[in-house]
Amino acid sequence: MSAVAVGLVLALGLAACGGGGAGAGNAGGGQTAAPADTLVGVAMPTQTSERWIADGNNVRQQLQQAGYQVDLQYANDDIPTQSQQIDQMITRGAKLLIVAAIDGTALSSQLQAAASQGIKVIAYDRLIRSTPNVDFYVTFDNFQVGVAQANALLTGLGYKQENGQPGPKQGPSVIELFGGSIDDNNALYFYNGAMSVLKPLIDNGTLVVKSNQTALEQIAILRWQQETAQKRMEDLLTSSYADGTVINGVLSPYDGISRGIITALQNAGYGTPAKPLPTVTGQDAEIASVNLISTGVQSSTIFKDTRKLAEQAVNASKSFLSGQTPQPNDTTSYNNGVKVVPSFLLPVQTVYRDNITPVLVDTGYYTPDEIAKGQSS
Ligand code: BGC
Repeated sequence: MSAVAVGLVLALGLAACGGGGAGAGNAGGGQTAAPADTLVGVAMPTQTSERWIADGNNVRQQLQQAGYQVDLQYANDDIPTQSQQIDQMITRGAKLLIVAAIDGTALSSQLQAAASQGIKVIAYDRLIRSTPNVDFYVTFDNFQVGVAQANALLTGLGYKQENGQPGPKQGPSVIELFGGSIDDNNALYFYNGAMSVLKPLIDNGTLVVKSNQTALEQIAILRWQQETAQKRMEDLLTSSYADGTVINGVLSPYDGISRGIITALQNAGYGTPAKPLPTVTGQDAEIASVNLISTGVQSSTIFKDTRKLAEQAVNASKSFLSGQTPQPNDTTSYNNGVKVVPSFLLPVQTVYRDNITPVLVDTGYYTPDEIAKGQSS
């Protein structure tokens, strides 16, 4: 086939996807009007983090617009509660489940029950592990999230510039590492992505982890909790920094964890002209952290547009509910221990103080007023 012909085939293939997405690959996918009594169960982990509130609202709104009934539940980060909620969705007659799991391995029996009744299951943002009964996965490129966090750390420390070019910094820096919840598959991807960038620099002495805690098991923060992160940072300051060594950077995988780290550092005297706060990374562009970035307290975050993730979940739902199969854009990365789950991955963006406006304001995600207040209105 000539290069021109290949280009044409690719262009037609892309056009068939209707603007790119997890909708059915064949024409007409998702066009069928939803019967008004079709119930979709949406299981979200917690309302303590605003990203999940936005995810839940976006998914519900977009499903309702498409004509479906929606049962949206939050589980307060409690595994038995989430299992029970999914049981109830099945009992109420849900025809499809969208699940952001708390513990990626804890839902096998619920999903077995779903499968035996022909209910399709879409894993939302977090992979559901150790079960054959997950049909599709919509998420962001989680390895790249970790790479982006590590690059943002190196940028804050001065080894790199925001455009990826080398920065002015020479000589070593002292850092600490934080990881996500060990039962969330994403935590491993974020860690592996970050370590693909940081490990060579730790090994050659450019980055010094003074606590020597670099394994995911040592740095993980169960359920991504801010208070747990604050406590670990306090413990690190006591155990490894009592000699007065100054910390230059902290790799943090999530904005709530970042705020816990920052509080511990501020309580220990960081955040003055004589002793500036270290570079602290983040994830999710939570409004409280965007406020901290706008005032130079937190260094960066990774923006994941939950509106777009909801859209992919809804596209995939429409495909399944009209008897078709959604179109993945990744069929190799996410092995859940039983099978490789066909996935649709979205890209992410790093936010620093100087690109808050184009990335978060101009796209309508936050208003300048919300950022100034550090609160969504
Ligand atoms: C999500 C992150 C989020 C974290 C804590 C992860 O599974 O991918 O976006 O920061 O959970 O809620």
